[in-house]
Amino acid sequence: MTARRKLIAGNWKMNGLKSDGLALARGIADRLKAGPAPACDLLVCPPTTLVALVAEAVSGSGLAVGGQDCHAKAGGAHTGDTAAAALADLGCRHVIVGHSERRTDHAETDAVVKAKAEAALAAGLIAIVCIGETLAQRDEGRTIEVNRSQLLNSLPDGATPDNAVIAYEPVWAIGTGRVATPAQAQEVHAAIRAALAERLGSDAAGRMRILYGGSMKPDNALELLALPDVDGGLIGGASLKVADFWAIAESC
Ligand code: PGA
Repeated sequence: MTARRKLIAGNWKMNGLKSDGLALARGIADRLKAGPAPACDLLVCPPTTLVALVAEAVSGSGLAVGGQDCHAKAGGAHTGDTAAAALADLGCRHVIVGHSERRTDHAETDAVVKAKAEAALAAGLIAIVCIGETLAQRDEGRTIEVNRSQLLNSLPDGATPDNAVIAYEPVWAIGTGRVATPAQAQEVHAAIRAALAERLGSDAAGRMRILYGGSMKPDNALELLALPDVDGGLIGGASLKVADFWAIAESC
């Protein structure tokens, strides 16, 4: 099996004003600079309003900065939206697309998510493509089918292990404190990798990173990150505290 370097990504969601956002970003960057660095890549995705400030503050620290969403079009008359190229221009290397909160709050379909991911790739960003089943879908025994379908319909054309990352986030685990068991996570991650192999070939599938997200915390990160097909985490709540985010990163 190919060694995949883990990615620990913080999704700050709609949290943070200038002062606390800067303090959080600097707190992580300072720990990185002080070393020893954890054995993973580290990324924070602040709200769009803080991206420029955070990117400037952590520049040169090794902490990557990303956006939480981008528009599917390169530019134009889209009031309130953010172009992928604008994120790249601010120093972003990544952008999350298709988070379940976007899919729910903004009715984003797989086709929309795919178009956004393709816009991200066109702007030179790494797309973090989120998928995940609801509790009702899990209870109906449709978990694998739902994730497979979301994956294959949201994956951008031209996806490679270098420009795309998958994030499996069971909707029932996001912000609920109810985390997937290691067996539940591994089962879905393995199914995602199998679907990736069908689409991209086994070499690319073996090198593509699949993150787990949904109530990952310092006290459950170790067992999740030790699973064979879990290549990192997309962290919401626990990414808002330097100590918690760092502790998760150190679990790699
Ligand atoms: P959570 O959020 O860690 O707060 O559950 C994860 C996410 O939505 O990315």
